[in-house]
Amino acid sequence: MNPVKPAPPTAVEEATTAGPNTLTVIDNRTGKKYELPVTNGTIRALDLRQIKVDGKDFGMMSYDPAFNNTALCYSKITYIDGDAGILRYRGYPIEELAEKSTYLETAYLILHGELPTREQLDEWTYHVTHHTFIHESIKKFLDGFHYDAHPMGMMISTIAALSTFYPDAKDIFNEESRRKQIYRLIGKMPTLAAFAYRHSLGMPFEYPDNDLSYAGNFLNMLFKTTELKYHPNPTLERALDVLFILHADHEQNCSANAMRCVGSSHVDPYSATAAATAALYGPLHGGANEEVLRMLKEIGSVSRVPDYIKRVKAGEHKLMGFGHRIYKNYDPRARIIKRIADEVFEVMGRNPLTEIALECERIALEDDYFVKRKLYPNVDFYSGLIYQSMGFPMTMFPVLFAIPRTSGWIAQWEEMLLDREQKIARPRQVYLGQEQRSYVPIESRA
Ligand code: CMC
Repeated sequence: MNPVKPAPPTAVEEATTAGPNTLTVIDNRTGKKYELPVTNGTIRALDLRQIKVDGKDFGMMSYDPAFNNTALCYSKITYIDGDAGILRYRGYPIEELAEKSTYLETAYLILHGELPTREQLDEWTYHVTHHTFIHESIKKFLDGFHYDAHPMGMMISTIAALSTFYPDAKDIFNEESRRKQIYRLIGKMPTLAAFAYRHSLGMPFEYPDNDLSYAGNFLNMLFKTTELKYHPNPTLERALDVLFILHADHEQNCSANAMRCVGSSHVDPYSATAAATAALYGPLHGGANEEVLRMLKEIGSVSRVPDYIKRVKAGEHKLMGFGHRIYKNYDPRARIIKRIADEVFEVMGRNPLTEIALECERIALEDDYFVKRKLYPNVDFYSGLIYQSMGFPMTMFPVLFAIPRTSGWIAQWEEMLLDREQKIARPRQVYLGQEQRSYVPIESRA
């Protein structure tokens, strides 16, 4: 199959260029003046290219390591106001979705742009539920991993392996094919995750139970032992579902960017999702929840918190679960997670590390170092405490992030594919290396 990008575009419309909105740039090197159009509060980086010292000059570029101030795309999926602590999916506040929606409904919203009707939700749930089984060969694949393999490593590999089972997924500009891969990806992520977990315990794999909810079935595949029918605890099932809602998307974060970047080469969505999962694995991103628990364990007691904070301020290490590129205020997801933690602790007992976490937060929120840098608890600060209380080992925490984030990744991928302005992602560089020089034979080298 050789996918061809269709014309005309369908998803992302071109933004309107407002006439009088311009930015005047004076190049002091030449004295020349340029009028750059401003659209949606941005200038186009390519408009800088006309700014040249002379005819041989390549033209001006912007230098932006880590994309601190570069908009990669127009998007209609997720809105974040980091200063105000606002997060909305398709316009709906995260607080309302966490209270009233379910993960599968939210995933539908993120992917389709609107909340489903009853009929649409039933159909969507049916399809996702009927794509939860994985090929038996994937089990053999999992068996090849060492007993203590990190489940994120197993996830990345098995998601990538799915592409070999579904070669039809290469047909990325075929809407019907995309739908199918979306059902498969959202349906199979919990199965891969649960099987990776059971492998690490040396326990037999537990097959999906279609009678249960998305979160309930996941708990079943993880924790069912000898009972004939697994009945998830409703509080834990709902807590997990809400955590899934909170993690479903977060606009252009590191893993979404990996999904878009890898997907921009027109590879199949399984390979792109494997790349996004790998990006999420890092301790500065989805791996942070695991690191928070390690940190709280290392601190060990409330009395040792001040000393730990002192060491953070001295630059010895970071306070994991604090800070965010976008939020310069309390992460709204962290606020909801704190509430869920209380509900879970009522069922499972209070996590003894909670007091240490609360003391870290109390001290940090009053301390000049954190206040000045606007460092607040992020989504990962309290989620690990809940996961641990629910019986998950630390290594599973980033996996619990990857499962729900799949809906966001695919929505970002599809939006990128259908955006006629997008091309293969290929940044520029500023070369500061050696000028041309001649090869030196080894015997003549200093
Ligand atoms: N502890 C101590 N100092 C910090 C922390 C922290 N957690 N985060 C940032 N800082 C300091 C940083 O050292 C810098 O100080 P200075 O100005 O003196 O050099 C300043 O605050 C600004 O930080 P930055 O590194 O420029 O911020 P960034 O936007 O590049 O990084 C971040 C954002 C999330 C990677 C970073 O805050 C961090 O490493 N936090 C800990 C890891 C973490 O919790 N990650 C989860 C993020 S939320 C979920 C997700 O995205 O997956």
